[in-house]
Amino acid sequence: MWISVVGLGYLGAVHAASMAALGHRVVGVDVDEARVESLASGRAPFFEPGFDELLSQVGGTGRLSVTTETAAVEGAGVHFVCVGTPQRADGYAADLTYVELAVSGLVPHLAPGDVVVGKSTVPVGTAARLAAQVEAAGATLVWNPEFLREGFAVKDTLHPDRIVYGVPDGEAGVRAAGVLDEVYATPLSEGIAQVVTDYATAELVKVAANSFLATKISFINAMAELCEVAGGDVTRLADAIGFDERIGRKFLNAGLGFGGGCLPKDIRAFMARADELGAGEAVAFLGEVDEINTRRRHRMVELTGQVLDGEVTGKRVTVLGAAFKPNSDDVRDSPALDVAARLGEAGADVVVHDPQAIDNARRKAPALRYEPDLETALTGADAVLVLTEWQHYKDLDPHWAGDLVAQAHVLDGRNALDRDTWLTAGWTYRALGRR
Ligand code: UDX
Repeated sequence: MWISVVGLGYLGAVHAASMAALGHRVVGVDVDEARVESLASGRAPFFEPGFDELLSQVGGTGRLSVTTETAAVEGAGVHFVCVGTPQRADGYAADLTYVELAVSGLVPHLAPGDVVVGKSTVPVGTAARLAAQVEAAGATLVWNPEFLREGFAVKDTLHPDRIVYGVPDGEAGVRAAGVLDEVYATPLSEGIAQVVTDYATAELVKVAANSFLATKISFINAMAELCEVAGGDVTRLADAIGFDERIGRKFLNAGLGFGGGCLPKDIRAFMARADELGAGEAVAFLGEVDEINTRRRHRMVELTGQVLDGEVTGKRVTVLGAAFKPNSDDVRDSPALDVAARLGEAGADVVVHDPQAIDNARRKAPALRYEPDLETALTGADAVLVLTEWQHYKDLDPHWAGDLVAQAHVLDGRNALDRDTWLTAGWTYRALGRR
């Protein structure tokens, strides 16, 4: 099939290349010239495991082209909208500017029978509102939310755990679902679960899933707060409750909490939209979920102060990790970078290390000092904070690191290190939610 993909960020770029890998002819469009140039030369414009390999695999087929010209979508029969919906500067609601621009930009190039497929995360009601514009061009709008996790984007796109379509009532909806079935013929043939529903449900599925995940993380972090005052160990607690299949151990890792380009802004946009619909009370608990999450960052700063005898000013603090999670260079709403910035503002001499995210972090928090060499970053540190659980940090030899630092204090913001190994090597070990 001939497909267009509008928006080539973490979602769209991987989607475009994956669709080409599935055998489709794909044209990708983005306004960012540098990003298009990078993709055109077969280089990933961001760090995502397996993406470079995917690009070189599809590069040889000639099935993927990228451009800044929207008119290049003409002739494609299916058009994916993969642009961002960040939090608005003036409140919690999602900024729909890019989605609206993408759809209105597509409309003049649509042919009757085309299918426009929204993948961006949008407030419920958006698809119904945009549908009229698409239908006026003789095309049909489908909402097909994306559930990929950064760090696993290629695998999640090629082998998703479910495929959801929100379609309009009637014949047009049935036909559009059939067209998407052809697009996803390979994953569907693997027996992947499929839910075909209305627009509102499809939109809600995405925010409900992210709200559930955020709630699960904040639940265990609330238990961490209790463990801290009562003298418990949240990691053992998570193991124990996780054995209950109804609860499950996944997404019960206590620590600095959630960040990134999705969970924080999606729960806020959900609250804002529910308020508009007069159902704010139904998701008011998400405000608490957000607050628990933010409190973890304060607690980390507080704990660092405690370890450094109540005074961070002038102390050398090494922060390991800037990305919002490992295997990503994404620093959007990164808990690690936020804690580093707070410590810097409090007067600490902060040095940040990250295997992939230093360039993005420097753009976002230019006042901090960045060090790409781990040995140099650790040298002379009064405290070492592990704030993103890169494998690299989990594998650190505490004896080697102990010889470099000025004071052997480690703070494990992700409960990722082996506590006993670090204690045996002579370090003081502090973590969130553990004695
Ligand atoms: C998320 C959803 O998982 C994905 O389905 C959706 O499409 C987009 O949002 P992503 O933002 O890539 O994906 O990250 P995810 O793996 O969900 O992690 C989000 C944050 O939660 C990270 O900051 C991570 O460190 C944190 N987290 C995750 C925890 O603090 N504890 C956990 O147990 C799991």
